[in-house]
Amino acid sequence: MFKIPRGTRDFTPDEMHKRRYIENSMRNTFQTFGYREIQTPMFENLELFTAKSGETIIEELYAFKDKSGRDLALRPELTAPVIRLYVDKLQMKPKPLKLFYFGSCFRYDRPQKGRYREFTQAGCELIGTDTPEAYAELIALAYTLLKNVGLKNIKLNIGNLTVLSTIFKKIGLTKDQQRYIIPLIDKALFEELYSALQDFNIKNTKITDFLEILQTSDLEKIKKYIMEDETVSKELDKLEEIFDLLNNCFKIKNYQIKMSIVRGLDYYTGLVFEIEAPMLGAEKQLCGGGAYELISLFGGKDTPTAGFAVGFDRTILALETEGQEFPLPGVDVYVIPVNREMVKKTLEITQLLREKGLSVDVDLLRRGLSKSLKYANSLNASKAVIVGPDELKKNAVTLRDLKSGEQKIVKIKQLPDTIF
Ligand code: HAM
Repeated sequence: MFKIPRGTRDFTPDEMHKRRYIENSMRNTFQTFGYREIQTPMFENLELFTAKSGETIIEELYAFKDKSGRDLALRPELTAPVIRLYVDKLQMKPKPLKLFYFGSCFRYDRPQKGRYREFTQAGCELIGTDTPEAYAELIALAYTLLKNVGLKNIKLNIGNLTVLSTIFKKIGLTKDQQRYIIPLIDKALFEELYSALQDFNIKNTKITDFLEILQTSDLEKIKKYIMEDETVSKELDKLEEIFDLLNNCFKIKNYQIKMSIVRGLDYYTGLVFEIEAPMLGAEKQLCGGGAYELISLFGGKDTPTAGFAVGFDRTILALETEGQEFPLPGVDVYVIPVNREMVKKTLEITQLLREKGLSVDVDLLRRGLSKSLKYANSLNASKAVIVGPDELKKNAVTLRDLKSGEQKIVKIKQLPDTIF
């Protein structure tokens, strides 16, 4: 009768089991890198998102007025909210600050496989450092996060927006022309890009060089191309140091230099990186991040910031595409009374086992032994405890191993230890 809103999804218990399993793995990885979890509200004042991007971003948001006429928006991402929180509450904390989060985001995107209007991000922000080791560790964290959940086939691409804008300057593109070609670069539409640059009256040789630099993964070639610029050569040296640390300290060698990374959001400044799962097709980008500037815009004292967010839903799609096996959901024990008189004792035993930390379910339908055992199997229970009058007289119950079918009589007192 009622349909779910377009671009949103329900998650069944089996799906939630998978999601929590992945979330726990990611939370654990964030913590092993010294990050601490934070949470911000699902909706913010609209201005938080228009401050950097302007009013045009409203098209992509779930923006609305509340009953008092305040302009609000469901968050499309968490970087701006985290920086708002930082400026408000955490500026005085010792640096660097390492913050991570999980949260729903909302974008008025055109829904398709891997692209939703409500989706979850797992992300982090690193505040107060921009050393090569800080950036190398950040990139290593993103990569490790995805490797630790079990993904095998991922591609890490690293670029730099300062370098990209120098490349733009070098062939003499105006701001408007840059704005026109950025989406073409983003979508790797190099033929269209070639014609656009011809339309801007740029010489063919210059266009060819430009396209080669955008597509090369050879840092030396890029260096030669833009040698004369001092700021940019500093950025390139730093990039080289980051690569050295990734290779030799974090043992991550599976990455590519990609100067055509443009990133959709307006706050990025230098380093940018993306991780993709090529087998996902159109919506293959699993992770995006980089260095950005928002603090001074939000009224705080400037300090370097960088971070990334992993698309949680796409990560699960990628794992499923790779055929990853997830641990099956299940309970440790299912407790069954053989008749009505046994119900009270059954509940007591259930509670006793729960207090010992086991996950325990109990027959609430009074449906008899054989049907209860069938149901216990459908729950993927490991053991069944059968409470019957004869055993109970001796303060004992029947413990049945549901995998092997073996069973034995066990004293109730010894039951938790026997199950463990
Ligand atoms: P983003 O690239 O816009 O970056 O999003 C990060 C990830 O969220 C994407 O790589 C993608 O996997 C996932 N994602 C984005 N839109 C959708 C959607 N409609 N449906 C499903 N998944 C989606 C950011 O949001 C930045 N805040 C990342 C960041 C943190 N940069 C610095 N700090």
